[in-house]
Amino acid sequence: MSRGDHPLNADGQMRAFFGRRSGKRLHRGQDALFKTLLPQLDIALDGGVIDPRTLFPAAKHHVLEIGYGGGEHLSLEASRAPETGFIGCEVFSGGIAKLVQQIDEQGLGNIRLFTDDALKLLLAMPDGVLDGVYLLYPDPWPKSRHHKRRFVSPTTLKEMARVVKPGGYFRFASDIEDYANWTLAHVLRAPDWQVDLGAPGSWHQPYPGWEPTRYEEKARVEGRMTSFYFTFIRR
Ligand SMILES: C[S@@+](CC[C@H](N)C(=O)[O-])C[C@H]1O[C@@H](n2cnc3c(N)ncnc32)[C@H](O)[C@@H]1O
Repeated sequence: MSRGDHPLNADGQMRAFFGRRSGKRLHRGQDALFKTLLPQLDIALDGGVIDPRTLFPAAKHHVLEIGYGGGEHLSLEASRAPETGFIGCEVFSGGIAKLVQQIDEQGLGNIRLFTDDALKLLLAMPDGVLDGVYLLYPDPWPKSRHHKRRFVSPTTLKEMARVVKPGGYFRFASDIEDYANWTLAHVLRAPDWQVDLGAPGSWHQPYPGWEPTRYEEKARVEGRMTSFYFTFIRR
């Protein structure tokens, strides 16, 4: 397996990627859009550089959302900020199909998609090209022996810091306290990210203009009533 298939982990070794790529069959409309619209939105890696400024030459800002799920947050943000170019990264075909459908229905022209491991995308981007990165309700991997599968790691924090401009942001939301603590502990050790949590409890306040994502709604239904909404600033 080439290095491009398995990006590096914190120790510089090959990192296994644990993602769900397909689930239920797509319905007919989604299947058609998968074949027609997705190839126009899809960002090819081809072993080269992925530069958001080339993907969206007229955009004033560039933002990445990692693991967008059904794409509700990404499509809402893209509709609110037409002068921003958004890159969405997701590996689950059911989620990709949902977002492609929303892009089609809403005529959104400022979203491009990467359908493979987000670390590969980060590694392919030049320095300082993004205004911000969202990681909303990442897979929690609750068992200790699976913590190494969590997306937040020294490697991904370093890569996110490299591609985000000084003053830009990394937003992390989760309903899982252990993952919130994990993330804080890692970010506090990452020299390029500034942690300013504000007043006690303010980290439970959603971001301005926030609408719950699918996983946030699922958490509430399952009785997890509070979430953590962190914003870390690139030094
Ligand atoms: C728990 S879901 C949350 C989805 C969405 N953000 C929400 O709040 O509803 C996490 C998503 O991250 C995606 N994912 C996990 N690891 C990923 C990776 N390395 N690159 C891209 N997507 C990833 C999964 O396929 C899944 O859809």
